[in-house]
Amino acid sequence: MLRVSAFRLLGRRGASRVSLLEDFSFRYYSSGPLGVRDDTRDSRAYFTTPIFYVNAAPHIGHLYSALLADALCRHHRLRVPSDAATGFSTGTDEHGLKIQQAAAAAGLAPSELCDRVSAQFQQLFREADISSTDFIRTTEARHRIAVQHFWGMLKSRGLLYKGLYEGWYCASDECFLPEAKVTRQPGPSGDLCPVSLESGHPVSWTKEENYIFRLSQFREPLQQWLRGDPQAVTPEPFHHTVLQWLEEELPDLSVSRRSSHLHWGIPVPGDDSQTIYVWLDALVNYLTVIGYPDAEFKSWWPNTSHIIGKDILKFHAIYWPALLLGAGMSPPHRIYVHSHWTVCGQKMSKSLGNVVDPRTCLDRYTVDGFRYFLLRQGVPSWDCDYYDEKVVKLLDSELADALGGLLNRCTANKINPSGIYPAFCATCFPSEPGLVGPSGRAQAEDYALVSAVATLPKQVADHYDNFQIYKALEAVSSCVRQTNGFVQRHAPWKLNWESPVDAPWLGTVLHVALECLRVFGTLLQPVTPSLADRLLSRLGVSSTERSLGELHFLSRFYGHPSPFEGRRLGPETGVLFPRLDQSRSWLDESVGFENIDRSFKPTDEG
Ligand code: MSP
Repeated sequence: MLRVSAFRLLGRRGASRVSLLEDFSFRYYSSGPLGVRDDTRDSRAYFTTPIFYVNAAPHIGHLYSALLADALCRHHRLRVPSDAATGFSTGTDEHGLKIQQAAAAAGLAPSELCDRVSAQFQQLFREADISSTDFIRTTEARHRIAVQHFWGMLKSRGLLYKGLYEGWYCASDECFLPEAKVTRQPGPSGDLCPVSLESGHPVSWTKEENYIFRLSQFREPLQQWLRGDPQAVTPEPFHHTVLQWLEEELPDLSVSRRSSHLHWGIPVPGDDSQTIYVWLDALVNYLTVIGYPDAEFKSWWPNTSHIIGKDILKFHAIYWPALLLGAGMSPPHRIYVHSHWTVCGQKMSKSLGNVVDPRTCLDRYTVDGFRYFLLRQGVPSWDCDYYDEKVVKLLDSELADALGGLLNRCTANKINPSGIYPAFCATCFPSEPGLVGPSGRAQAEDYALVSAVATLPKQVADHYDNFQIYKALEAVSSCVRQTNGFVQRHAPWKLNWESPVDAPWLGTVLHVALECLRVFGTLLQPVTPSLADRLLSRLGVSSTERSLGELHFLSRFYGHPSPFEGRRLGPETGVLFPRLDQSRSWLDESVGFENIDRSFKPTDEG
């Protein structure tokens, strides 16, 4: 028998060591170990959220993870508008000691707890407009088949062996910890208790015979993968962190627990006395969803983007790629990592009583409003602090005043009485500033606006690729401000439709502003889908004209016909996004803030 003590393997180390660099080669963009890839496969993309523990109700941090994935996936669909091309999975992580203990503490059977909390996640994601194509629960039969098959692959490739594991285990984080990562803190009775240095969660000493994965053999292949693809883990600081971890010792990993201790999980095939480690079980969910072990999964893997929080980076960027390489597969294409939300400067926790309920926020700020807030304020590389006043201020200024105000100014009945997309006059706004003739009124700032909005889609796409969605929104917001400046500068309300001198220029100002709004609406679809839908519908943009490929911004300026010129605007004339501050003042005195109905209602205010 082999003995692993505090992550040190004291037995026959790497007995069946193979030439790993040759054996676990990964060729992501060429044929790859999965066989030849055709064009359809190349355009396929698969996005995943982490699967969420069901020991407690969802909070805004969980919603944030799911929203980031949703926005990335929706943006991809704007580029490749075919349902078959994009997969998007989310789900719940239902096995393991943490859930077993939470169920016992709640006096429930584990399956009851799982059903209850998994339903809460499903409901939240439905309400928050998360456009996932699958919701996986790790207690499903399809998942057990995938995990046991995956286990068999590792076993048959000589990567699992039995050994004695002795060391610390943290049930809350479901991970093994070396002595250096454990500290002592006073417990409830005042005695010093061992806890994880990183998370502060209690740890307990574990000594048992387990199956062990030869993780130590994968240090070089992992380094090679990461060095060969600097964006594999994005943003860069996290990539760097993983490479640094790989400079440290990489001990073999215990991948099962005694079933007498952990019964709530998937049994090791052929050995019922052992239950598969919950992280191995959980990570395989990404394969289960795409049909593994059936061959169809090969059309999705490895063109996969995992969206994860920084606390689970090691599991995704070291353990998971090593397990995949071990099973003969490539690591995922991208691992996008985000930081955490704190609340009023503190970590969110049940014991501190500061957990922010995402459903209350969706009710209070509307679905689009709260999605916009989290994605506009959340910066992947560092933690962000949540407080309500910040939400109100941001939404009022960017969605209600700047964007809503702009739409209103350009479509109001007083200014655009015919209710159509006005014509663009090429002599008023020629494509070159030097060509501005006597009828032209365009100024240098107007050319700067056109150029900024023309390059916005590419800028936004680059920010999405770098997982900087907040920067994409910042760029859109800056262009909205610029467009408001344009309208303000030319004050169309002072121009007269009846005047042959004013009319072509008035139409041009409105045409340009509506074209800018069309770009903003298109680019906001991944973040505020309903608001963007209302905006585009108001502009008369049909559902087939909303992808990036169909954008063709201001084509008249570039000498091409415009399908929008002369088109009737949509009939909904209501407020695009209601000011929260105003509503609050009258509601505070009457019915209460929570009961507000902020749905988009047609009004005549125009
Ligand atoms: N079950 C594992 C993941 C397994 S994936 C194969 C897990 N679950 S979790 O429910 O604890 O966390 C799910 C996601 O929520 C993680 O990406 C985590 O980083 C994220 N968040 C948890 N708290 C968070 C904040 N306070 N802020 C932002 N995201 C946070 O880990």
